[in-house]
Amino acid sequence: MTKPASTSGGGAGAGLRDVVAAPSSICYIDGEQGILSYSGYNIHDLAQNSTFEEVVFLLWNGRLPKRRELDELNDRLVGDRALPAEIVSMLKSFPKGAVPMDALRTTVSALAFYDPERSDNSLDANRRRAQGLTARFATLVAAIDRIRNGKDPLDPKPELSHAANFLYMLNGKEPTDVEAHAFDIALILHADHEFNASTFAARVTAGTLADMYAAITSAVGALSGPLHGGANEQVMKMLLEIGSPEKVDKYVHDKLEAGGKIMGIGHAVYRTEDPRATHLRRMSKEIGKRQGDTKWFDMSHRIEEIVVEEMTRKQKPIRANVDFYSASTYYMLGIPVDLYTPIFAVSRIAGWTAHVLEQLGNNKLIRPRSEYTGEMDLKYIPIDQR
Ligand code: COA
Repeated sequence: MTKPASTSGGGAGAGLRDVVAAPSSICYIDGEQGILSYSGYNIHDLAQNSTFEEVVFLLWNGRLPKRRELDELNDRLVGDRALPAEIVSMLKSFPKGAVPMDALRTTVSALAFYDPERSDNSLDANRRRAQGLTARFATLVAAIDRIRNGKDPLDPKPELSHAANFLYMLNGKEPTDVEAHAFDIALILHADHEFNASTFAARVTAGTLADMYAAITSAVGALSGPLHGGANEQVMKMLLEIGSPEKVDKYVHDKLEAGGKIMGIGHAVYRTEDPRATHLRRMSKEIGKRQGDTKWFDMSHRIEEIVVEEMTRKQKPIRANVDFYSASTYYMLGIPVDLYTPIFAVSRIAGWTAHVLEQLGNNKLIRPRSEYTGEMDLKYIPIDQR
């Protein structure tokens, strides 16, 4: 019988917890105090005052842009939004039931075919590539959803911000200012997170001097797992499965009793509140209130209360992470559940590309060692004598 994949465990040193793999000036996390900052700017400040486009500039350049620089970046991102016609045809050839993350991973890889600077791995060409990928991820994800629903992809609207344009291309109508702002904040919060699994995967691939498409394809693959970006979809599936607030307590107690995990809770680095969860919790509550139904927020909040209490009692204190309240927030914004992880990628592409650029700026092949635990010096036995 095949052994099922483990969701935890591994023993001492497993999962490279707390190992510093390389210096980086892009993102800082203090897991004890719950601090996250991008290039020195606290995430709370950025969420309250900035825009996704400004954060993109910050991640790529290590400083905030001046007005003119931000306008130029906006123009370049808008100019890069459209997809090559061949990519749209390719999307149309995918099976109807294709998982959106599979479709995204496959098309990102295929974008390399249509890069006019394909053979140029210089830093300048890679900066242009980072820009093209960041602009196109939003168009790609919206197109994946429309095509699987039998609709034609919509042309991007140049006058809309990255966040508003994505919601427009997805839903076919322009979002309200409140919806666009909420989504913009979600993009800011997900844009980078230091050496998380997908970013590290991107850096490992870039470190071999494979091109940026290869690095980003690795990252998309790593993000898709339920222990990483896939958790937000699992959270919403759980909320839908529970169905109503009065069923929450039994569901959560039964799950924990059986040794199961509640997705969207716990973190490999934070030992206190994930600062991104603070904003998403507030957004989930606000959007619910605005829509006159706080059911999904209320259920999420009750789940969080029980898990925090129960796990603290077991002396394994864990808290909600970025994925927990993004689930109900996206649901109320009308986003299909299996697009939550691709949407994570629409934002994280900014961080991934920043890390690839940083890796290439001072490259060293990433090649750790393993601690060998197998047998040694076995005598080879011919196959028919085993
Ligand atoms: N539900 C129930 N128990 C959980 C849990 C959860 N969501 N997250 C962690 N635990 C348990 C672990 O199983 C572990 O128990 P054990 O010592 O008996 O094995 C204990 O709490 C401590 O876990 P910790 O060391 O803090 O976490 P980790 O570094 O091993 O794993 C995650 C971190 C993110 C993989 C883990 O918390 C998890 O699987 N969370 C759910 C998936 C998720 O939301 N991922 C997105 C992360 S942004």
